[in-house]
Amino acid sequence: MSQTFDIIIENIGQLLTMDHEEGPLKGEKMKELPLIENAAVGIKNGIVEWVGKHEEATNFSAGERVDAKGQLVSPGLVDPHTHLVFGGSREHEMALKQQGVPYLEILKQGGGILSTVKSTRETSEEDLYQKAKFHLDRILSYGVTTVEAKSGYGLDRETELKQLRVAKKLNENHVADVVSTFLGAHAIPPEFKGRSDEFLQEMLGMLDQIEKEELAEFVDIFCETGVFTVEQSRQFLLKAKEKGFDVKIHADEIDPLGGTEMAAEIGAVSGEHLVGASDEGIKKLSQSDTIAVLLPGTCFYLAKGKYAKARQMLEEGVAVALSTDFNPGSSPTENIQLIMNLAALQLKMTPEEIWNSVTVNSAYAINRGDVAGKIAVGRKADLVLWDAPNYHYLPYHYGVNHVNTVWKAGKVAF
Ligand code: NIG
Ligand code: FE
Repeated sequence: MSQTFDIIIENIGQLLTMDHEEGPLKGEKMKELPLIENAAVGIKNGIVEWVGKHEEATNFSAGERVDAKGQLVSPGLVDPHTHLVFGGSREHEMALKQQGVPYLEILKQGGGILSTVKSTRETSEEDLYQKAKFHLDRILSYGVTTVEAKSGYGLDRETELKQLRVAKKLNENHVADVVSTFLGAHAIPPEFKGRSDEFLQEMLGMLDQIEKEELAEFVDIFCETGVFTVEQSRQFLLKAKEKGFDVKIHADEIDPLGGTEMAAEIGAVSGEHLVGASDEGIKKLSQSDTIAVLLPGTCFYLAKGKYAKARQMLEEGVAVALSTDFNPGSSPTENIQLIMNLAALQLKMTPEEIWNSVTVNSAYAINRGDVAGKIAVGRKADLVLWDAPNYHYLPYHYGVNHVNTVWKAGKVAF
């Protein structure tokens, strides 16, 4: 054999190839974790060209040989739900939280999301770009190579477009892949107070421009008490679908309104949060192709001791993904590894389920199942070498960054 690679990563203790059959994982598949022990990977021109046993790697030459020292290698992780682009921050709300003022009450008083809307409207596109880039660098540093980014802190045409353009530019200029979602229906801005239907019309009126400038692939809405009802959300998302967008929904995050059922009924790509999902909602999800994106970091940070019923979802055959929900209010963290710890401790997910949820299923939750979340010949070489002896280690050892090296398309990115 005379094959030459740009890079060979060898002496890998466990290589999580995640090379399942195509499609989101549910039921028994969630318990399986395709891996190779004592493995090696050959990369050329940014693509995985060979995957095999360490012993076989000696047959190949390479521009660079990386000794993984028996440690763990996985695909670059996928974070399918973030609010990456925003102005300001909300540390001033911590005291209110500690006094027990509920999240939706802070919003009702014009704080919360609306406080970030004010800051985002006041921040220039260039400053928003630099700030989002800072957070994206940090997300990448935790082993994530593909990220979804939602707008939703403009709530007017100009600022929503500004946020979406920042996400698009990041996708073009940053090594990470950024998948953009229009969340204009994130809250009702003061100028539309009491006129939520009119506001939704206004946001729907932006879709042609968003399509023309290719600014988003998905449309999302915050279906919640005091924000948008299930029926408003259903009509809004169905109109977005008619326009050719795929849809996502923030559903049953705080109050159980029935957004989970609706997500399954309208064929949303994902239903997100789902903390208050009913038994009926979980059943409908299991019979649908909608992926449940669970965000235990948000539950931790809202500190009400209530988490999504992940075990019930998994046992009933729902496809589950995990994400940070990185945002300045309900989940200010870029650390997907912390989410993996919370999934173990609070959602009672197994290590196999957790890894499937941050790779394959999170990729499918943003329509990237065919390009991200797997290490296979012919795929882009998005890989992470972890300072960890096996895959059980990450959900166990919490609060620190276990990344040793991140490769994005075969280049060291962190
Ligand atoms: O996913 N709930 C709505 N959106 C975000 C929070 C946004 C914010 O508080 O700024 C979430 O929790
Ligand atoms: Fe969110």
